[in-house]
Amino acid sequence: MPAMQTPWNLDSGAFYIPSSSTFVYSVYASSPNDFGLFLFDAYRSVAMESKFMLRALELAKQGGGNVSPNPLVGAVIVKDGRIIGEGFHETYGGLHAERNALLDCRTRGESAAGADIYVTLEPCCHHGKQPPCTDALIEAGLRRVYVGSRDPNPLVSGKGIAILRSHGIEVEEQILREACDAMNVIFFHYIRTGLPFVLLKYAMSLDGKIACSNGASRWITGEQARRHVHETRNRYASIMVGINTVLADDPSLSCRIPGGRNPIRIVCDSGLRIPLHSALVQSASDIRTIIACCEAHSAEKRSALEQRGCEILVCGKAAQVDLAELFRRLGEKQIDSVLLEGGATLAWSALSLGLVNRVHAYIAPKLIGGVAAPSPLGGCGVKNPSDAFRLVKEKLSTLGSDLLLEGDLEVPFLSCGQDPTASQSRTESPSKRPANHSRKEVI
Ligand SMILES: NC(=O)c1ccc[n+]([C@@H]2O[C@H](COP(=O)([O-])OP(=O)(O)OC[C@H]3O[C@@H](n4cnc5c(N)ncnc54)[C@H](OP(=O)(O)O)[C@@H]3O)[C@@H](O)[C@H]2O)c1
Repeated sequence: MPAMQTPWNLDSGAFYIPSSSTFVYSVYASSPNDFGLFLFDAYRSVAMESKFMLRALELAKQGGGNVSPNPLVGAVIVKDGRIIGEGFHETYGGLHAERNALLDCRTRGESAAGADIYVTLEPCCHHGKQPPCTDALIEAGLRRVYVGSRDPNPLVSGKGIAILRSHGIEVEEQILREACDAMNVIFFHYIRTGLPFVLLKYAMSLDGKIACSNGASRWITGEQARRHVHETRNRYASIMVGINTVLADDPSLSCRIPGGRNPIRIVCDSGLRIPLHSALVQSASDIRTIIACCEAHSAEKRSALEQRGCEILVCGKAAQVDLAELFRRLGEKQIDSVLLEGGATLAWSALSLGLVNRVHAYIAPKLIGGVAAPSPLGGCGVKNPSDAFRLVKEKLSTLGSDLLLEGDLEVPFLSCGQDPTASQSRTESPSKRPANHSRKEVI
């Protein structure tokens, strides 16, 4: 993987063009001509746009973990090449990035009239928890708006840009769009499908074991990899495990980084087997905890769990929790993302139903062995390597002595009931996946 390049170096007069990685020196200055001047201006303007949008992206990132189910958005107001206001969407329900940047502008004693604003996501144009950002930009007299991503929210989706243009404000789109899109992959998925974005995470030894044959699994990976997991927990709205993992490990599933935020804990536990003395139940009055179960469960146990602060979600009449229904209900509860931490049985169920969007596999340079030692995925598996679930946009990095292989599921769907040799199965609309439903306004 090539290291990410900074697209400009204004001090040395050298520029990268982000899309082509072409490196251009402004040496033409020693033999100027019109074309050289034109090129220089073009490169400089691309570099400036990238520079300010990168700053807006940096700002947007700071809202991570606090704005769900809203998008991460950053904004930078620029006048005469100088930043005069910055802001980001800080908390769910709070001011949007554009209004925070305008506020910052006023606090600095600057006027945004005639200035440009760089915003990572199309400004909203509807009343939600906050009034439309388009109104704020028009009132402030902005001259030009640089946009990273279009907002797929049907309430916005190009309308924000159209309103700005109709008020004589110039709009430039797709500035560092790939980076802006990547930042809001969770929001885009949630707003389009109404379902949480699901990241399957597991830690395994080099021989593919997530625990020893006696069930011991602490710790397979080292300090840095575990810290990375906690950073992910801090960004995800919820974390989910199967009941066997609770019974084997008694995890707290909390986020243990300074200033971190605990995700909502979700346990798939068809028959409410979770012990009342488990760490999850004991802390349920402090950290939101959902136990998903089936209809046939003990009313007495339910009431004992509820008294201790657990939320019980009945999903399905069958013997096991109906995952498709569970994920749909979580979406309705505005839980936009799930970090699926296993174990192998639950992971396969979710993967085979096409509910997993992304995988983080932490691989430790250790060999555990043992036929009975579990691997990351249980279930029936595919019958042929060519039918395997594939990752795309994969990336490999090192975390101390461990590796992290991450990637998106190509087309997430296959169920045990389907013929895995049917190549079309990945492209057809999966019958078991929860139906998309129109999204309620979240902003
Ligand atoms: N290294 C790692 O990254 C890692 C991570 C997690 C776990 N682990 C290890 O994995 C082991 C546990 O894994 P496991 O595979 O035995 O169990 P699991 O996946 O943790 O739990 C499976 C159980 O969840 C319940 N469940 C409810 N609805 C389900 C559904 N729709 N699909 C699948 N399961 C559903 C079922 O029990 P009911 O029918 O009673 O509801 C099922 O038996 C432990 O040893 C743990 O230490 C390792």
